[in-house]
Amino acid sequence: MNVLILGSGGREHALAWKIAQSHHCDKLYVAPGNPGIAIIATNVDIGVNDFEAIKSFCLYNKIDTLVVGPEDPLVNGIYDFMERAKKENGWKGFVVGPSKEAAQLEGSKAFSKKFMQRNGIPTAGYAEFTRDNFEEGKAYIGKHSLPIVLKADGLAAGKGVVISETHAEALQVFEDMIINQQFGKASSKVVVEEFLKGIEVSVFVLTNGVDYSIIGHAKDYKRIGEGDSGLNTGGMGCVTPVPFMDSAFMQKVEQNIIIPTINGLSKEGLIYNGFIFFGLMNVDGAPQVIEYNCRMGDPETEVVMPRLETDLLSLFAAMDNGTLADANINYADGHFATVVAVSGGYPGDFRKNIPITGLDQLIPNSSLLFQAGTKQDGDTVLTNGGRVLAVTSKGNSIEGAVEQSIGILKNIYFEGINYRKDIGYEFK
Ligand code: AMP
Ligand code: GLY
Repeated sequence: MNVLILGSGGREHALAWKIAQSHHCDKLYVAPGNPGIAIIATNVDIGVNDFEAIKSFCLYNKIDTLVVGPEDPLVNGIYDFMERAKKENGWKGFVVGPSKEAAQLEGSKAFSKKFMQRNGIPTAGYAEFTRDNFEEGKAYIGKHSLPIVLKADGLAAGKGVVISETHAEALQVFEDMIINQQFGKASSKVVVEEFLKGIEVSVFVLTNGVDYSIIGHAKDYKRIGEGDSGLNTGGMGCVTPVPFMDSAFMQKVEQNIIIPTINGLSKEGLIYNGFIFFGLMNVDGAPQVIEYNCRMGDPETEVVMPRLETDLLSLFAAMDNGTLADANINYADGHFATVVAVSGGYPGDFRKNIPITGLDQLIPNSSLLFQAGTKQDGDTVLTNGGRVLAVTSKGNSIEGAVEQSIGILKNIYFEGINYRKDIGYEFK
């Protein structure tokens, strides 16, 4: 198979690393990729939302499998666009990703809440408001229990969710989102929901909208500071397997959440051929859905792919030809931990174009160094984003795996480098 992956982060580096190992893989391209990806695949200078250029590339290079990393092109309709390329241009490949309509599970919080409610999927109680019922919303918030969760309906680069401890703050956020258009169109509708108290975890599924395979799970550490303090980030590290996600817990996830979701997709005619990322809260042993994402997580992919032994291209083929239910999923033994190195100041303002040293160090077999926000400048690799690198290690314990990843990061330097040393702390 010839494969094109869209994206340029640690997630795409991990997907490329996994796919490159498949004996089904002939040519592997990543658009636009990064310097780490360039070591194992061919980078292509095309943006993830440049659909015309993606189509031309797929036709010219006989791409069989187009794997979409980030949510943006999915919500913008890359799946539907490439379906048209099949009909109109004779493209013979398939996309790993949902249709534009089904990508609303991530693209619109209101859409996903309604979907969950219709399909009896456990999630926090909620109401939705726009400018039209703004006063009603204020009254609703005024009477709501605390803390209270406000979510911009549309994509807001991970910044559209605010958890307020006071009614006054919630009302201000509500006004900022709807009236002051803090996130533009994305916050013209706001979902107000109950706060779920528990431990947040992620489960990853590959589906064709009828059958599915669970391909992994992880716990992500979202806060910038140790002990889960400070601002939310895209993710500072991950572990898998998660000790409390045993077969009894996963059975509840499957019965109460995954199966009703897949049945809902099929019943409602939502076309889905790709990953579903279930963002869950473990509320006293009862999993509830916080959010759906229509893609893999980042940095979760960097910890899930190394643990997954099953060939990913075979799974994509099974998804495409309707045999996913028969697929065997195997996981490697041991504990996996990813530690993410970020640029100083992230998730606030941070600098770019800082030279990185130590990337050429000898990495042991039980570790992987994934690049995220990096770019090549002559012989030097520079920082090019907030999250710069992700180091994954395998160990006999979570603690051992984290220690090993930190050991590798100690030999890497860029001005302002920052990473959490306490990933997996509650499982020590
Ligand atoms: P989302 O974009 O929906 O994933 O929300 C971002 C983050 O806010 C989640 O990863 C959770 O940590 C937190 N969050 C969202 N909804 C809730 C909720 N109902 N209760 C508690 N925390 C939440
Ligand atoms: N790590 C969270 C996400 O990918 O959305």
